[in-house]
Amino acid sequence: MAQEDVFKKLVAHCKEYGFVFQSSEIYDGLSAVYDYGQMGVELKNNIKKYWYDSMVKLNENVVGLDSAIFMHPTTWKASGHVDAFNDPLIDNKESKKRYRADVLIEDLIQKFEVKIEKEVSKAQKRFGESFDEDQFKSTNPRVLANQEKINEIHTRFSAALNNNDLEDLKQIIIDYEIACPISGTKNWTDVRQFNLMFSTEIGSTAEGASKIYLRPETAQGIFVNYLNVQKTGRMKIPFGIAQIGKAFRNEIVARQFIFRMREFEQMELQFFVRPGDEMQWFEYWKDFRMKWHKSLGMGDENYRFHDHEKLAHYANAATDIEYRMPFGFKEVEGIHSRTDYDLAQHQEYSGKKLQYFDPELNKSYVPYVVETSIGVDRMFLSILAGAYTEDEVVDTKGKKETRVLLKLPAILAPIKMAVLPLLKKAGLPEKAREIVDSLKFDFNLQYDEKDSIGKRYRRQDAIGTPFCITVDHQTLEDNTVTIRYRDTMEQERVNIADLNNILEEKVSMKNLLKSLV
Ligand code: GAP
Repeated sequence: MAQEDVFKKLVAHCKEYGFVFQSSEIYDGLSAVYDYGQMGVELKNNIKKYWYDSMVKLNENVVGLDSAIFMHPTTWKASGHVDAFNDPLIDNKESKKRYRADVLIEDLIQKFEVKIEKEVSKAQKRFGESFDEDQFKSTNPRVLANQEKINEIHTRFSAALNNNDLEDLKQIIIDYEIACPISGTKNWTDVRQFNLMFSTEIGSTAEGASKIYLRPETAQGIFVNYLNVQKTGRMKIPFGIAQIGKAFRNEIVARQFIFRMREFEQMELQFFVRPGDEMQWFEYWKDFRMKWHKSLGMGDENYRFHDHEKLAHYANAATDIEYRMPFGFKEVEGIHSRTDYDLAQHQEYSGKKLQYFDPELNKSYVPYVVETSIGVDRMFLSILAGAYTEDEVVDTKGKKETRVLLKLPAILAPIKMAVLPLLKKAGLPEKAREIVDSLKFDFNLQYDEKDSIGKRYRRQDAIGTPFCITVDHQTLEDNTVTIRYRDTMEQERVNIADLNNILEEKVSMKNLLKSLV
């Protein structure tokens, strides 16, 4: 199935099974804003818990914070967001559609990358076992020609971004004949900068009101609190502050479902270090974060680092962790060495000293900061994209049918186990309820007695429930049930008394957290 079709199916699946709904749908929706349904909220909370516990419980020098969305407006002047948090936008004069100039160029580069991938997979099929991908890529004339194009565009694109050269950004679009996907024409306006922050007013009277912003990142709430936390928590450098919270950006291009939203959630760590130690910690957090992603078992080959072409105004090193989405490798997390930029700026704009006294060095300095920043929603999308699977199975009458399942990591699955009485009578529902009542304090369970057992299994497969328990007549005799495994559909008989341990081993975060240390 083409990846585009997979993505369309995934979006439909998210709605059908209560993972994600368009915001304000009854009013035809609000662009790039989404609500999480009854399954979505569970999955999202599990992702947040795994992140928070891995950062705060496993690193004894990391503590949490929950700072407000609204901050003093000078925060955003100091951080550089008022002047520099812009995207280069361009309009197509025929369709009147607005695009990000950099995204148009990145999409063009991706087209050449797709061409290379196609050549490689064709050759792979032709040569089979003996295929040497590296050799093929370095000798095949069509691959080399496409790679040369990529390099050429890349070099020019990076220079234009780094020099803030909006004219050349437009010229690249003209020179490579990029057309508007809607009108098909190349009739473009000039490229101009567009600030992404949402603003509103605080205060009840027009005279007393002042303009404030909805935070575009949670990080600044950490920076302005770093001394509060350091002093009250008696923290010694190096130490970190972790926070999960909403962020808002008036994105120009709203597309790809929850990949680029106007209201989204971030999980950020600011790690405060001695100046000069930042590269060592940058490497530490790169490794730790990549390990965290891979621990979820979605396939190591689906993750990669991507170093930034253009460093943000605050960074001296930056890389992204990318995941192979149905629309290509895309950023899920950013890791930045932010120097002392933010703290030094807040010190200057607030007039308050933000230095740390280092007792070992017997001197004060403004710490350097290494940041890890991951979008909850993008993480959610990457997990769902990796988990969405269509299997061909044979039903009880021998007919082939498609089984849609979510191969979610068990620790993230919204429902850990479904308890299903085989029949709605003969004491089976009561026994099933007894099982639910004994396990519900520790695990998220679902009781379901409606429809045939086959249909009930399918419903649980579709929401990614890793285990289904069936209560039958034998259960009443010997206190055993069948446990069915989602991915293999295999079944075995187990004692009810063992269910707690089975679940504990497979779905508790403890084992996964242990794998990180
Ligand atoms: N404090 C650093 C920072 O905000 P960023 O690269 O702009 O860096 C970090 O954002 C992460 O936040 C991204 O890797 C992405 O996962 C998520 N993110 C950013 N913009 C987003 C959007 N419009 N919709 C959903 N997630 C977004």
